[in-house]
Amino acid sequence: MNELQKEIVRLKAEKNAIILGHNYQRLEVQEVSDFLGDSYGLSVQASKTKADVIVFCGVDFMAESAKILNPEKVVLHPNLNSRCPMAGMVDAKSLRELKAEHPGAPVVSYVNTSAEVKAESDICCTSANAVKIVQSLPDRKVIFVPDTNLGLFVKRYVKNKELIFWPGYCPTHVAITKERLMAVKKEHPNAEILVHPECTPDVIDYADFAFSTEGIIKHVMGSPKKEFIIGTEENMIHRLKKEAPSKTYYAVPGATCPNMREISLENVRDSLTKAQFKIEIPEDIIRRAKIPLERMISAGR
Ligand code: 13P
Ligand code: SF4
Repeated sequence: MNELQKEIVRLKAEKNAIILGHNYQRLEVQEVSDFLGDSYGLSVQASKTKADVIVFCGVDFMAESAKILNPEKVVLHPNLNSRCPMAGMVDAKSLRELKAEHPGAPVVSYVNTSAEVKAESDICCTSANAVKIVQSLPDRKVIFVPDTNLGLFVKRYVKNKELIFWPGYCPTHVAITKERLMAVKKEHPNAEILVHPECTPDVIDYADFAFSTEGIIKHVMGSPKKEFIIGTEENMIHRLKKEAPSKTYYAVPGATCPNMREISLENVRDSLTKAQFKIEIPEDIIRRAKIPLERMISAGR
């Protein structure tokens, strides 16, 4: 650990703080995190931590979810520029209009949404449990926001349902094209292709498997294969090298999420010393958004 990382570890203990880090964080930030995971795993950790302060190293909606689950705790987001563009593609007003067009249809919102959108939803999901959540609903017609590609992935497994989509997408994952994957595969023909369900349907068809980020790690750890093409944010490879160091990983050119990479060690240190930037959400929104988030957590992976 470098001096800055040691200072962060000391500050964490002094403030009784925990650092939750997403699998896409920079390596040096991953190294000071107490828990690394996908959106589902991080929500679970946030819901059960005994720490007084949560420093969330991930994009805005992840820090907001931690606050919704822990309204009494201080939740800090070290860099407010770390925002998920997909979460910004749907707002509460537009969702209310969509709901009015489909009376009675429940709303499943991907956790990549604002607190206000969650407050308008019946249940949340992550990429780790989207199929299970949609399947669990008794209704035939379901509104699914905002990621159309994740929705189309779900649709493969729930043929009996009518899904109403929203035109949202992840700029990072749509840039992982089939052509780019084919070029990497040509160089490494024995490598298995693993992608994220936010990828487009043709990419998912071409890949060997599609999983959430933590699902990719679990799959690699349990697989007899030795080489993998990682069709998601390249920083995932740090985690994979740590968990399964004897295997080889190939990134897809251009697979980066600049928003996830905004948070630096300096930001984390300043977050702890200056208690910045505190996530504040109106009480009424927290009360309503907590219901779909807690439903999602109790549904499991
Ligand atoms: P995971 O929940 O799979 O970690 O995905 C979060 C995300 O933002 C993917 O782009
Ligand atoms: Fe949002 Fe995509 Fe970045 Fe994930 S990878 S945080 S969905 S922009």
